[in-house]
Amino acid sequence: MNQLDSIVDTARTSFNEAVTPADLENAKAGFLGKAGRITELMKSLARLPVDEKKLRGAAVNVAKQAIEAALTARREALAGAELQVQLQAEALDISLPGRRRVAGGLHPVSLSTERIEAIFGSMGFEVAQGPEIEADWFNFTALNTPEDHPARSMHDTFYVEGGTSGAPNLLRTHTSPVQIRHAVQHVKKYRNLIDAGQAMPEIRVIVPGRCYRVDSDATHSPMFHQVEGLWVGENISFKDLKVVYLDFIQAFFETKDLDIRFRPSFFPFTEPSAEIDIMFGTGPLKGRWLEVSGSGQVHPNVIRNMGLDPERYIGFAFGSGIDRLTMLRYGVDDLRLFFDGDIRFLSQFQ
Ligand code: PHE
Repeated sequence: MNQLDSIVDTARTSFNEAVTPADLENAKAGFLGKAGRITELMKSLARLPVDEKKLRGAAVNVAKQAIEAALTARREALAGAELQVQLQAEALDISLPGRRRVAGGLHPVSLSTERIEAIFGSMGFEVAQGPEIEADWFNFTALNTPEDHPARSMHDTFYVEGGTSGAPNLLRTHTSPVQIRHAVQHVKKYRNLIDAGQAMPEIRVIVPGRCYRVDSDATHSPMFHQVEGLWVGENISFKDLKVVYLDFIQAFFETKDLDIRFRPSFFPFTEPSAEIDIMFGTGPLKGRWLEVSGSGQVHPNVIRNMGLDPERYIGFAFGSGIDRLTMLRYGVDDLRLFFDGDIRFLSQFQ
């Protein structure tokens, strides 16, 4: 290999070894820079005789062009590589699944509540609400459960700060306090009619909501849901309660093959009082009486606390466990599943 070929060869090698544009420019200086090898050769031509200068000059030029070509090629290669790196860094992996907006859904207890509201709505019941932090008066005393009444111990009550005349506020242990709250508002609205001895529009209301008791196992949660029902008028009897509740429960479970029975019981705010049991004629729960609700004829003292004359007004009330109804409807056997917030459980109801 002659001297020029070997210079070209060395140049190619050192250009190819350059990994950054700066490396490459340094390498270039060694051949084409002021003191580069090609530049030196060009300078040395001056000392040659004319004939030789021509020949030699042409050969050096060929070498110089070859080196310049190698330089350009390497420059382009490095620029291409750099672009590649940049593209890769900015690349979108379109094979990755996108971020989906998962459609949420209603909690099974909310689904039941909506169902209950719709069914009772179709029977002319309004929906009312009341506070979860309740005064002793509404939760107990107005419901014919005075302070020393043994029935208070049926409810393991969470007491909270605040309250009036020595009676602490509490987390309501049932939705029944809203019987009083709602009736008082209703009576206020129709006071003039009532005082004039005319018929007051009936009270027909349901109250779904959260309740609290110190209790926790597979079928009891310290927070649970009830729906209260109240129907008060001049001529409302236990027969009406039975018809309304049977219609409701058959609509709720979407079957006519479902019977109810009233089992004598005790609540201070109703007299007589009864537990309502239901029995399915088909399905996995077939043939077993299942307790779903307390109920009864509203006690005269409660009618009085509503601001009405118990000689004239009469009615019934019930209080059903929404969680329990939901468990029965969907075949869930552990109440705690409703409150764990496990998406695998909850998504089955969508
Ligand atoms: N409040 C009662 C309970 O929580 C249920 C009930 C409501 C009973 C209305 C009678 C009338 O157990």
